[in-house]
Amino acid sequence: MAPRSIIIDTDPGQDDAIAILLALASEEFQVLGLTAVAGNVPLALTEANARKICELAGRPETKVFAGCARPLVRSLVTAEEVHGKTGLDGPELPAPTMPLQEGHAVDWIVDTLRAAPAGSITLCTLGPLTNIATAMVKAPDIVPRIAEIVMMGGAYFEVGNVTPTAEFNIYVDPHAAHVVFTSGVKMTMHPLDVTHKALMTRAWIDSLRALGSATGQAAAAMLDFYERFDMEKYGEAGGPLHDPCVIAYLLQPELFRGRDCNVAIETRSDLTMGMTVVDWWGVTDRPANCHVINQIDAEGFYELIRSRLARLP
Ligand code: RIB
Ligand code: CA
Repeated sequence: MAPRSIIIDTDPGQDDAIAILLALASEEFQVLGLTAVAGNVPLALTEANARKICELAGRPETKVFAGCARPLVRSLVTAEEVHGKTGLDGPELPAPTMPLQEGHAVDWIVDTLRAAPAGSITLCTLGPLTNIATAMVKAPDIVPRIAEIVMMGGAYFEVGNVTPTAEFNIYVDPHAAHVVFTSGVKMTMHPLDVTHKALMTRAWIDSLRALGSATGQAAAAMLDFYERFDMEKYGEAGGPLHDPCVIAYLLQPELFRGRDCNVAIETRSDLTMGMTVVDWWGVTDRPANCHVINQIDAEGFYELIRSRLARLP
């Protein structure tokens, strides 16, 4: 079967890093490139972190582009309290030596979608949707050329992780999310409702360290640092690993369950700004625009990640 062509839009972030490593370790994908966006930390760090992760994976030929440095309307909100000041706190990763690609990520997304056969590229979004929305506004013709957007973001039954109603990726740029969710593109959303049902365990993180590879050591160090925030906040024995759900879903969709729903984004109320209003029970006449995931086989998910990261140097 031909590999699936994907573009990963990302704001690394330790959980983004595991998602990127999973993708690069999997022959089911042709990773056309990574597009960095401001989110967990500012753009200068997310693009450098993306390159560090590619070099950790032994894939310095991967194309990495820098995208938007701030949300469409609101000021940038970052999450150093979760990810550390570098965005990848935990391991000491060397400064990247692979080049950052020339040109803006948004232009590369547009050009790549226009040049490829329609419906042949899947966008995997792991951060705020600023790059994707900007590309759609700049070049509306790309929307029908996108096979699907599989994204991590949003929350409904699980409520928010930044405010009582909003999840971080949507909260940072709700206007971008509105553009994407109203574009008509095929979408699958992995909200906190599913990511909070698959918490890491100490044994699993230690199994990464036991791989004995540079990837295993660095991944374990990242997650040792990253999990502490959610463990303290939620009082759980482990933290959620949000972004790899996107990649795992494309690799083994049978690990997940969801429902087609309408999802609308709050962009006006200060109280509920960035809320993903999911019509889970179909009580409105708003048409379904998204496949919303809410169930996961956590054991299968974590074994998939471990077994694939075992392939990396
Ligand atoms: O709310 C979790 C999301 O916000 C993840 O993508 C994490 O990396 C942060 O970007
Ligand atoms: Ca992210």
